[in-house]
Amino acid sequence: MYKINDNYLKLPGSYLFSTIGKKVAAYSSEHPEKSIIRLGIGDVTQPLAPAILEAMHKAVDEMGDAKTFRGYAPDLGYEFLRNAIAREDYQARGADIKADEIFVSDGAKCDSGNIQEIFSLDNKIAVCDPVYPVYVDTNAMAGRTGTYDAKTEMWSDVIYMPCLEENGFAPELPKETPDLIYLCFPNNPTGSTITKEQLQVWVDYANRAGAVIIYDAAYEAYISEENVPHTIYECQGALNCAIELKSFSKNAGFTGVRLGYTVIPKDLKCGDVSLHALWARRHGTKYNGAPYIIQRAGEAVYSEAGKAQLKEQVAYYMKNAKTIREGLKSAGYTVSGGINAPYIWLKTPGNMTSWEFFDYLLEKAGVVGTPGSGFGPSGEGYFRLTAFGSYENTLAALERIKKM
Ligand code: MLT
Repeated sequence: MYKINDNYLKLPGSYLFSTIGKKVAAYSSEHPEKSIIRLGIGDVTQPLAPAILEAMHKAVDEMGDAKTFRGYAPDLGYEFLRNAIAREDYQARGADIKADEIFVSDGAKCDSGNIQEIFSLDNKIAVCDPVYPVYVDTNAMAGRTGTYDAKTEMWSDVIYMPCLEENGFAPELPKETPDLIYLCFPNNPTGSTITKEQLQVWVDYANRAGAVIIYDAAYEAYISEENVPHTIYECQGALNCAIELKSFSKNAGFTGVRLGYTVIPKDLKCGDVSLHALWARRHGTKYNGAPYIIQRAGEAVYSEAGKAQLKEQVAYYMKNAKTIREGLKSAGYTVSGGINAPYIWLKTPGNMTSWEFFDYLLEKAGVVGTPGSGFGPSGEGYFRLTAFGSYENTLAALERIKKM
């Protein structure tokens, strides 16, 4: 008789955004007359930029001509894209990352879930609390997190690093030494960030402890303040201890297009074993690469026209962030985030739990957000709104919230 991977049975509930989707669908079908504004999942709403569309159209035509048709993509991704990434996202910032240290994929969510495969099950992970649920859930699926305590909403073998108002929603070095440290800055869900000096402390710590930092920089394009690192490789010593994940979803609107990449420096080694070689082996065996058309679209992100158009798109969403931030503040809410990130993190009013506020907001204002407790126990009493809606919907949502 076959057996299943019973680690899956230990997982509490369904994936956070699936739960929210189902709740909203049920509410909509019960109240078909109600207009609902979705500021829950961080999904973009603006169309693809013209430079990207043009590159995609051209690539589609190439695929229709025997002379320019392409089949399987190279394992690590096309060189034209990896060269553009290395030059624009790293070398231009003084970070010594080469094209052959970049693995192109169909998105940072998959990479952030899959990367744990190259590490032993004995490794202990440390995560921020609250945290993007994919890091913990995928380690739980692999059997690395011990047992789940429904009461505390914590796994026995995970080191939680609380990110609270009193520490500026930034994690402190853990007391127990982890093997793998997940960091995401600018942060999802709190919208907080840390300075280059603060990140350097983590890099030094990881090098001392013999730990690897898995650094999710999906929201890098939203950094507006000086001295906030755009990549962990701005820090000294990061080449020896850090893997970086990047997404095209948030900076270029690729949530439905699907493109991302992972950087594993060749200097990152466990004894004699190169993590780059392990991930290359995994990538080659399990993955056939992002489509040519999409990788050409990714290349256009780095063209002069693409860069200018995407700067405007990011500014559009950041105007929404400001609208939400200022609007909530004037309505008396305690808010943070929304300055270097497209997420606004608010304290639920009147001691409501995060899910109570979710229901209240949906019923009273027809606005969907994300309950903070869905990201971890320290998210209880908080709520996340995204700036990725249209400006009109964002304004309307704020008007409705102010009237509640
Ligand atoms: C979020 O809302 O946290 C993100 O959109 C989820 C994701 O990027 O997968």
